[in-house]
Amino acid sequence: MIPITPESRYNALINLRKGEIGREIFSSREIYEEELERVFTRAWLFVGHESQIPNPGDYFTSRMGAESVILARDKKKKVHVFLNSCRHRGMKVCQYDHGNTQLFTCPYHSWSYTTEGKLFGVPQFKNLYEGCMEKEDWSLIEVPKMEIYKGTVWATWDDNAPDLMTYLGDAKTHLDLALDCRDGREGGSEVLFGVHKWIIPCNWKFAAENFLGDTYHNVSHRSVDLIGIGPSAEAGVKGRRDNELEKAQHVWANFPAGHGVHSAIMPETWEFLDTYKNNPVVAEYFREAHARRKERLGAEQHRLVPFVGTIYPNTSFHGNQPRNLCVWHPHGPESTEAWRFFLVDADAPQEVKDFLRSYYMRYSGPAGMTEQDDMENWNYATAGSRGVIAKRYPYNYTQSLGKVQTSGPVSGNVSLQVSEENPRQFYRRWRDYMNGADWDTLLGRKDQGPASLAA
Ligand code: FES
Ligand code: FE
Repeated sequence: MIPITPESRYNALINLRKGEIGREIFSSREIYEEELERVFTRAWLFVGHESQIPNPGDYFTSRMGAESVILARDKKKKVHVFLNSCRHRGMKVCQYDHGNTQLFTCPYHSWSYTTEGKLFGVPQFKNLYEGCMEKEDWSLIEVPKMEIYKGTVWATWDDNAPDLMTYLGDAKTHLDLALDCRDGREGGSEVLFGVHKWIIPCNWKFAAENFLGDTYHNVSHRSVDLIGIGPSAEAGVKGRRDNELEKAQHVWANFPAGHGVHSAIMPETWEFLDTYKNNPVVAEYFREAHARRKERLGAEQHRLVPFVGTIYPNTSFHGNQPRNLCVWHPHGPESTEAWRFFLVDADAPQEVKDFLRSYYMRYSGPAGMTEQDDMENWNYATAGSRGVIAKRYPYNYTQSLGKVQTSGPVSGNVSLQVSEENPRQFYRRWRDYMNGADWDTLLGRKDQGPASLAA
C-alpha cells in the first residue's frame, strides 16, 4: 500500500469550494499509478454482461483497472471473475477475447485451471512438485465480491466494499432504463455483436466526466447536429425531437458514491415520434416498445428519459437509444481503452438489430461521427494538462457553483440547469479515494451537503 500523508496533496488539487481542480491529475504518471491502487482496487467496476457467457464453459476476457480479468461461467453455471494471470509466472492463462473452454491452459509452462479457477494440471507434477506444493493453494485469483444486476456483472477487489445496490444508490433509477429491455423482463437485454474497443489518447477521467452530463459541450457536435444522424437520419425529424426536448424538464443529478446523470422528464404529451418511416419493421418495433415501456413504468415514470450517466469511477451509459455501457479503462496517464457494450432487446427481430448496429457504428466508437468530436476534445485537454506553465493554473469547475438543489423531481443532488456540480461530486469522491478514506466517507455518509459546499 502506498503510504498516505495526512496533509494530502489531493486536498490542494481538488478545491471544491472555489471550483478549481489542478491539471496534473489528468497527466501525472505518479497520480495515475496511485489511482490504480486507491480507486480501481476498491470501487465496484463493470466487468461484462451475462448474455456474453450464456453456457457452461463460456468466457469473456475483460479488465478491471489496468489488469486483465476473465469473466467465466463454470460447469455448474456459476459466474466467476478471475485475474487473468497464471500463479506460476503471471502469463495470461486466457489469450482470447471470448470463447468456450473446459480448462484455461497457460501457454508458458502449461499449467491448467478449471472454469471454477482450480489449478488442475501441472506438467510433471509427481516428479517436480509433489510434496513441494498443494494444488489447492494455487487457484486462479478470484475477486472477493461479484454481483450480477439486470444481467450486468460487477466486481470489486475490496472485501470491505458495500453491496452493489448500496454503492449504486438512486443512480439505479437512471441506469435501469439503460439496462432494461422494452418490457423490463429479467434477461431481456443482450450485448449486440461483441464489444467495440479502441484506444483514445486521453486521461480516462475526461471521458468519465463528460458522461456525467456535460451538455455544455454540445457545440462540439454542431456539424453532426446540422446533418441530423439520429436513428432515422431523416431531415426534419431532429427538429421535432428538439421541440419535445425543449419542453422537457432537464435534470442533472449526482449521488453520494460519486455517480452523476443527465436525464429529462419529458412533457406529459410525450408521444412516440414516427421517425422510422423508411423502415416499417423498425418503426413498428419502436412504436410498440414505446407503448410497452409506458405500460410497464406508468405514465409518470415513463416520462423519465436518461441521456447519459457515469457510475463512479469509469462506467458510463447512454440510457435512451442507443442503449449502451461504455467503460473507460485506464491505460496510462494519457491513454484510455474504451470498451462499448451495445444493448438490444434479445427478442427484437434481426432487422431491428441490424438497423441498430449500423446506427451505433455511425454514432459512436472510433469511426462514430459523434464520438470523434469528443475524442479530439479529450485528447487536446489531456495535452493541455501536461505543460510546465499550464500546470500552474487550475481548471475552472465553477459552473453553477452553489446553485444545486438538494431535492428535485428526481432523487440525489439535483441541478435544474446545466451545471458542473456532477463533476464536483465526482472529484470530491476521487479525492476521498486518493486520500484512502473509509467506506462511510466514500458513500457520502459523512457529507455535510452537496459538493459545492464542501471544503
Ligand atoms: Fe503459467 Fe508457467 S507461467 S505455467
Ligand atoms: Fe459529446
